[in-house]
Amino acid sequence: MKKLYIKTYGCQMNVYDSARMADLLAPLGYAPVDVADDADMVILNTCHIREKAVEKVYSDLGRMKVLKAARGEANGKMLLAVAGCVAQAEGAEIMARQPAVDMVVGPQSYHRLPEMIARIAREGGVALQTDFATEDKFDSLPEARGVEGATAFLTVQEGCDKFCTFCVVPYTRGSEFSRPVAEIEAEARRLVEQGVREVTLLGQNVNAYAGAGPDGEATSLAKLIRRLARIDGLERLRYTTSHPRDMSDDLIAAHGEIGKLMPFLHLPVQSGSDRVLKAMNRGHTRDEYLEIVERARKARPDIAMASDFIVGFPGETDADFDATMDLVRSVGYAQAFSFKYSARPGTPAAAAVKQIPAEVKDARLQTLQALIAEQQDRFNRSCIGKTVPVLFDKPGRRAGQAVGRSPYLQAVHVEGAVPLIGTLHKVTIAALTANSLKGVLASSSIGAEKALAF
Ligand code: 5AD
Ligand code: SF4
Repeated sequence: MKKLYIKTYGCQMNVYDSARMADLLAPLGYAPVDVADDADMVILNTCHIREKAVEKVYSDLGRMKVLKAARGEANGKMLLAVAGCVAQAEGAEIMARQPAVDMVVGPQSYHRLPEMIARIAREGGVALQTDFATEDKFDSLPEARGVEGATAFLTVQEGCDKFCTFCVVPYTRGSEFSRPVAEIEAEARRLVEQGVREVTLLGQNVNAYAGAGPDGEATSLAKLIRRLARIDGLERLRYTTSHPRDMSDDLIAAHGEIGKLMPFLHLPVQSGSDRVLKAMNRGHTRDEYLEIVERARKARPDIAMASDFIVGFPGETDADFDATMDLVRSVGYAQAFSFKYSARPGTPAAAAVKQIPAEVKDARLQTLQALIAEQQDRFNRSCIGKTVPVLFDKPGRRAGQAVGRSPYLQAVHVEGAVPLIGTLHKVTIAALTANSLKGVLASSSIGAEKALAF
């Protein structure tokens, strides 16, 4: 067997892509390992969304170069590949800056890895693939396998046509593409056969999903979820990340009607100021967002809201920032991610003249994060004493401990009579610890259809 080390940066879709790359390379004799030291092949599956993302990749490549040189070529050289969004954005520049790199492959062309490896073995040299051939990619990937645990990601949609002015995604992942329903159902069934009980449907704009159904017609995410919910043994469904503009009535209704669809909605708003939302080209107002939240809560009163925020977008005034704070107060989030705006080369906002000074961004981020932390704490505390279904997916750090997820995506750990991994149990939440909830098993395994009763 050859050793394959993959380092995954960034989002959940990269986690999914890394697993698919491992699937793809398994028939070539590559087995995944946890350290790069004596790997036969190293893939850095990169993310481009954050500041200094590119520099971090180059510094990791510097370390890989040392490992590659130490190994020499007696047992065949170490193959070094850069995949993901930095690969797409930087292209051949990567090889120019770090000659130890053998392959650069974008997120929509990694199905070509086997042929790139073969060509290098045959002819030497380097290989570069940065085409946007999303359809070809899914057609060429082998069946997903080697899944561990009770939860899995499943990419149903990729790319983005929204062009928010801060974001690199439309340039690195390409335009919106949805996989056909049948392909997704087959993948979900295979995951369930391997013991998966919870599937998170992934897409950069997952609720813009419009894949071909059995009749050839475009199918909405809500319809896809309804179909997947019929798979026996698949107990829970989630989806991420959604755009407010694509939050359709049928998707909101699905939250009230499908017990397997978890009551958690990650719906990034980015800002609470209409002026900033407009400059970001988000295509919705603050009130439209708040109305969606209200409708979602009407459909599923216990739905937990999550979001992403950017502070210090070019031109953001104190009043704009106050509007964001105010929006956070009126929604009340269970969880939220917040970031300082960072100019991404090639995006419209990067060229804006009114960039915000670093110290202003720092102060706003601190203020916002304090409020979010307070809300998260309040939400977690409100769960104490409640009994919720928990899907156990891994052993805890200490012996006799198991960790699972509540419907609201909170980590819950129990001690003592440790339940089987991959099973759902009612757990009464007893206390809060630093990063998770502590619970006590309430009874034997339950079915997800009962989850709505909580
Ligand atoms: N600067 C700061 N945050 C960004 N995000 C995306 N692009 C940028 C950027 N240029 C954030 C958004 C998005 C999340 C994945 O990352 O909040 O929802
Ligand atoms: Fe980026 Fe906006 Fe598309 Fe999200 S919706 S991926 S933030 S361009």
